[in-house]
Amino acid sequence: MNVTINSIIQGFKKINKKIIINGWIKTKRTSKKGILFISIYDGSCLKPCQIIINKQIKNYNDILNLKIGYSVEIIGLLTLSIGKKQNFEIKAIKIKIVGLIKNLKKYPITSKYHSKEYLREIAHLRPRTNLISAITRIRHTLMQSIHKYLHKNNFLWIATPLITCIDTEGYSNMFKVSTLNFNKIPYNNSNVNYKKDFFGKKTFLTVSGQLTAETYACSCSKIYTFGPIFRAENSNTSRHLSEFWMIEPEIAFATLKDIINLSENMLKYILKKILNKRYDDLYFLNNKINKKKINHLINFIYYKFEQIDYSEAIKILLKSNINFKFPVKWGLDIFSEHERYLTDKYFKKPVIIKNYPKYIKSFYMKINKDYKTVSNMDILVPEIGEIIGGSQREDKLNILDKRIKESKLIKKKYWWYRDIRKYGSIPHSGFGLGFERILSYITGLKNIRDVIPFPRTPNSIEF
Ligand code: 4AD
Ligand code: MG
Repeated sequence: MNVTINSIIQGFKKINKKIIINGWIKTKRTSKKGILFISIYDGSCLKPCQIIINKQIKNYNDILNLKIGYSVEIIGLLTLSIGKKQNFEIKAIKIKIVGLIKNLKKYPITSKYHSKEYLREIAHLRPRTNLISAITRIRHTLMQSIHKYLHKNNFLWIATPLITCIDTEGYSNMFKVSTLNFNKIPYNNSNVNYKKDFFGKKTFLTVSGQLTAETYACSCSKIYTFGPIFRAENSNTSRHLSEFWMIEPEIAFATLKDIINLSENMLKYILKKILNKRYDDLYFLNNKINKKKINHLINFIYYKFEQIDYSEAIKILLKSNINFKFPVKWGLDIFSEHERYLTDKYFKKPVIIKNYPKYIKSFYMKINKDYKTVSNMDILVPEIGEIIGGSQREDKLNILDKRIKESKLIKKKYWWYRDIRKYGSIPHSGFGLGFERILSYITGLKNIRDVIPFPRTPNSIEF
């Protein structure tokens, strides 16, 4: 099997041995003596690999015409390099040109700087840039480390369904799933007759796996679901996607305090892993995007998060004397601009806000003794805002029913969710971590569309 550039850097076991590598040409230069130096990348790591091509090589004249972006297969001898820029290089024995660039003038990726907006328009080619390939590798390691952390802590991974017939959050804009013929919609009086639809019911793409995840927590104790989430909110912001990934751990016999501890530990663990395993890529982004990022990540790991009640947060915001766009008042939601004030200006570190008013939060959150607030928490980080939303779940059936009614939801639809409270009900808690939000924070990429391969947002779908 061919080796990747990363495996060569990691291993160094093949020094003075013949190897085959494949990749794309990144740079090319010729020395006065006619020796050709090309560097190729294969996306397995940030560093390209230097190839030295002597005149003696069979197809030297063809090779002279190599252009940036051509794909090649190199058979060569791996040697230690005397150059300062790299530890090793490959002395080419044979070079095969695999793919040409048909019309170089039209090739959208040049060696010039490309704006992130431009790259979004060519999402199929943007992983060829250092920027997007660095993010891709960090994204991979982040996913792996989350699974690893939860596995080490005895969580079972549950696949919760993506197609659903209930609204988990109670107020969501959901994408409908249907096979009805839009030109011939069946009606029952003036209402669409969903009995004729594929599932015989109105169905949607899920906005959270939580409710079905809870049923497994209330039998397997520690579980999590990790998958794509769909939200049809018309929010064209730098932190909203219509399709994103969420990690949702759910724990039996656990209170709000337990999940606060779990989430802080988990976040610190995954950040440590990224700093250890992807330092090259982080350092590259640090220099390119935000020169303070690595310091921020280190502080994130070493300092305890701030914890305050919602009421306290409102007092701080009122005292700020800032003329916010959205009003600040007990009972109203905390918006992005308020979150940013708390994290970036006031506390200058991650903040956990607890016990929000019940009317602005979902029906499943456990009511506090004051019957005004719920036992929930949001974790906010600087520059991004909310990355986690979680709560203790209402475990008393009569109170849950009251909350379903107050939230104007149809009780009948939640029959199986209510069963969990009927049969051996237990205190349990969980949270949802927005994968792309934490990735935006780690990479310093302020627009969430740059940390997912093919972003879906209102009025934007091409690939
Ligand atoms: O706060 P949310 O809506 O919480 C839930 O869905 C709960 N059911 C989770 C649970 O308790 N199991 O969403 C959780 C997180 C947010 O904190 C945010 O990080 C992310 O999901 N998120 C989004 N990320 C990108 N684009 C969007 N449109 C997002 N909406 C939420
Ligand atoms: Mg939330």
